[in-house]
Amino acid sequence: MNILVTGGAGYIGSHTCTALLKAGHSVIIADNLSNSKSETVRKIMDIADKEVTFYEIDVTDAEAIDTIFRKHKIDGVIHFAGLKAVGESVDKPLDYYYNNIVSTMVLTKACQKYGVNRFVFSSSATVYGDNKVPFVETMGLLPTTNPYGETKAMSERILTDIANANPAFSVSLLRYFNPVGAHWSGLIGERPNGIPNNLMPYVTQVAKGKLGKLRVFGNDYLTVDGTGVRDYIHVADLAEGHVAALENLTEGAHVYNLGTGQGTSVLELVKAFEEANDVKIPYEIVDRRPGDIASCYADASKAERELGWEAKLDIIAMCRDAWRFEKNYKGKLRK
Ligand code: NAD
Ligand code: UD1
Repeated sequence: MNILVTGGAGYIGSHTCTALLKAGHSVIIADNLSNSKSETVRKIMDIADKEVTFYEIDVTDAEAIDTIFRKHKIDGVIHFAGLKAVGESVDKPLDYYYNNIVSTMVLTKACQKYGVNRFVFSSSATVYGDNKVPFVETMGLLPTTNPYGETKAMSERILTDIANANPAFSVSLLRYFNPVGAHWSGLIGERPNGIPNNLMPYVTQVAKGKLGKLRVFGNDYLTVDGTGVRDYIHVADLAEGHVAALENLTEGAHVYNLGTGQGTSVLELVKAFEEANDVKIPYEIVDRRPGDIASCYADASKAERELGWEAKLDIIAMCRDAWRFEKNYKGKLRK
């Protein structure tokens, strides 16, 4: 199939492009490079040893999107393009609502106009809010406390309404848990701007010596050791989940959790990282981070049942591959 991948130069998008190419699909990337670099597109082609078509465009630009649909026979869309920093979304809500909602509307309008009925959307476990774990797709959603989360919940609703109104439209709403790790080649991975907010990139930068020590946000949660529990999923597994979702689309809107079903605490992740990579991660316990919940992990059985997909790589592989990418990035090893 010819797949339009918006945000394909980004972290999850780039890994998914390599998985799509490996599965025999053709890839057209649309990305405005607001949070990525064009060299990633080159690396995707190097890894897959195949060509991709790249458009540096903004997905909210309806004319630019129309041009792509006119020029190519698109069979399906995977929509990753979006802004994703939770804290920033509180300071710049309009940027988030505009970018994340308008992009979804522009793309679905083009899909309607050109008769494209396969759509896969990047949602987030954040839409569950502080529900009871494990999170299961049938749960009622809770408010997310930030505009970023609201854009995901709203986009899910828009896509579901479109599918309800047009039975031929097939959409998969993929709720990711905590994507980490990098391609085994070390060529593509996650590169946040500035000081990372998320745990794994922070840990890799501590390992590299760029940051002094990890601050563990709270050790008084009702969890195995008091620190926050999350469902970390290797980005390579997540990428395969998209191929499975695309290839198993059925009419209507379908929600899938993409997680491992396994909860890992902050201190367990630190220990796994030290073991996997033979490096020391100094840390201190500090206050809880506002807005954090104690535990978040998936009931991942629906994706296995309906898509034949399950995560295969464990926390050690996630830590090993995250560190390989960070080490490669500027070639400086601390130890
Ligand atoms: P990313 O920032 O690495 O990738 C997003 C890509 O979209 C970037 O390359 C960026 O340049 C591009 N982009 C943004 N707005 C655009 C626009 N208007 N037009 C064209 N390109 C645009 O992020 P990611 O981690 O790969 O996330 C991909 C998707 O998955 C996002 O929608 C994100 O909200 C969602 N998601 C991510 C996580 C996570 O932890 N990484 C978790 C849940 C959901
Ligand atoms: C974050 C996002 C969430 C998104 C998810 C997926 C926030 C508030 N939420 O969630 O919307 O869907 O990523 O990637 O950004 N931690 C530390 N020290 C650190 C960083 C994190 O102790 O320096 C702890 C956190 O308290 C949490 C765990 O590590 O318990 C994971 O944190 P993080 O990687 O930021 O992910 P989430 O909070 O799950």
